[in-house]
Amino acid sequence: MGWITQNGPDLLFPSEASGTRFLWGVGSSAYQTEGAWDKDGKGPSIWDAFTHEKGKLFINETADSSCEGYYKVKDDIQLLKELKVNHYLISISWPRIMPTGIKKEQVNEKGIKFYNDTINSLLENKIIPIVTLYHWDLPQVLQEKYGGWQNISMISYFNDYANLCFEKFGDRVKYWITFNNPWVKGYETGEHAPGLKLSGIGAYKAAHHIIKTHAKVWHSYNKTWRSKQQGMVGISLTSAWGEPVDLTSQKDIEAAERYVQFYLGWFANPIYSGDYPEVMKNYVGKKSAQQGLGTSRLPTFSVQEKSYIKGTSDFLGLSHFTTRYIIQKNYSALKGPSYHTDRDLVELVDPKWPNPGSKWLYSVPWGFRRLLNFIKIQYGNPLIYVTENGVSEKLQCIQLCDEWRIEYLKGYINEMLKAINDGINVKGYTVWSLLDKFEWNKGYSERFGLYHVDFKKGNKPRYPKASVHYYKMIISANGFPN
Ligand code: NOJ
Repeated sequence: MGWITQNGPDLLFPSEASGTRFLWGVGSSAYQTEGAWDKDGKGPSIWDAFTHEKGKLFINETADSSCEGYYKVKDDIQLLKELKVNHYLISISWPRIMPTGIKKEQVNEKGIKFYNDTINSLLENKIIPIVTLYHWDLPQVLQEKYGGWQNISMISYFNDYANLCFEKFGDRVKYWITFNNPWVKGYETGEHAPGLKLSGIGAYKAAHHIIKTHAKVWHSYNKTWRSKQQGMVGISLTSAWGEPVDLTSQKDIEAAERYVQFYLGWFANPIYSGDYPEVMKNYVGKKSAQQGLGTSRLPTFSVQEKSYIKGTSDFLGLSHFTTRYIIQKNYSALKGPSYHTDRDLVELVDPKWPNPGSKWLYSVPWGFRRLLNFIKIQYGNPLIYVTENGVSEKLQCIQLCDEWRIEYLKGYINEMLKAINDGINVKGYTVWSLLDKFEWNKGYSERFGLYHVDFKKGNKPRYPKASVHYYKMIISANGFPN
């Protein structure tokens, strides 16, 4: 499998780079790695508040210091150099640069300096920064005062924040991601911050505001910054692949499509086609009527909003980890309405699929190629950067010999290369993640890193796992070596 072996020119920036070298990289996010949660003027985020409340997480862990990434930028850049990646996906912590989330209240110069230094050091080392504006760490003040993403006023607060980032960093950052996986469990099941259980309503409403915010930010960039800065603005969406259990059953086939529409289509369809997927509108509408509600729990876009939102992504960031088999099942609309039961389906897994770490993460490489083909057909073959793909382990003892991760990466990269061969427009791939780090409501128990982090030691030393050498080999060969 050595077909993607052409040696492209040295690192180029996107304005010069069309059709050039494939981007190989790794990712991380602010809350999961930076630590320094209250240092140098940073305000609290909803994740700080959530993890500080005893009993919210089953193990009462926090990311107060996490990997100490805030103090270890130079060390981590050495790791990136060792890997020879040509991009690094990071996120900016909104409350680090705007402690209350509101620009006119306060901008934290120390936070701006931190990200300026990070971006400069990456570029000095010829590593392209891909920057996410929002990886789940909403300023706590916005949650407390306004209800966070339940409130439409987030659109203008976030737009101010995004514009400040474009102003301060956009001369050097050319790949922007507005939202990472704007999946809004925190307003539905309460497992994530801010921990609200607004079943059947909260997630739809939060997502609605996030989609509008994304569109607003894309238009801001387009109008004010694009001609000067020549960058791109996209969104990063997550989706598993759904495969019908029985390929001869029309019901299962439809259920599997619904699964992907309620996952990826929920956000991608408005952005690429102007509205929620038909099937989502039908199902949530039908269930809401059965509950005796006068209107659907799924909000609607006006005609103007539809055309404003449509076409607002210069690329699609895709985060993909796993697959499910899907079978049709009817749920009563009256029992615990949620975006899960609204779909009328059940997810199954094959117990033979490898599952080394997170309960939900089974290695099923072929699902990746199918999902990429689905995207091509549904959304007109958009430019894609894979922004997250990887696997975790549960720590029994230090496991540097992570052969399961090597197998996983081999399988998934291979399927991605086949998809590129199918004509899908993938131009970059990001292993999730550089380091072991805080894994949200699972704390430190699930480790996604290519580098092991010893969280018991104060300086959080990093140690390469075997997968570092494997990924490094893929990067230098620009695919699998011949
Ligand atoms: C997607 C999230 O964006 C990321 O933060 C998380 O670590 C991975 N899923 C793995 O759960």
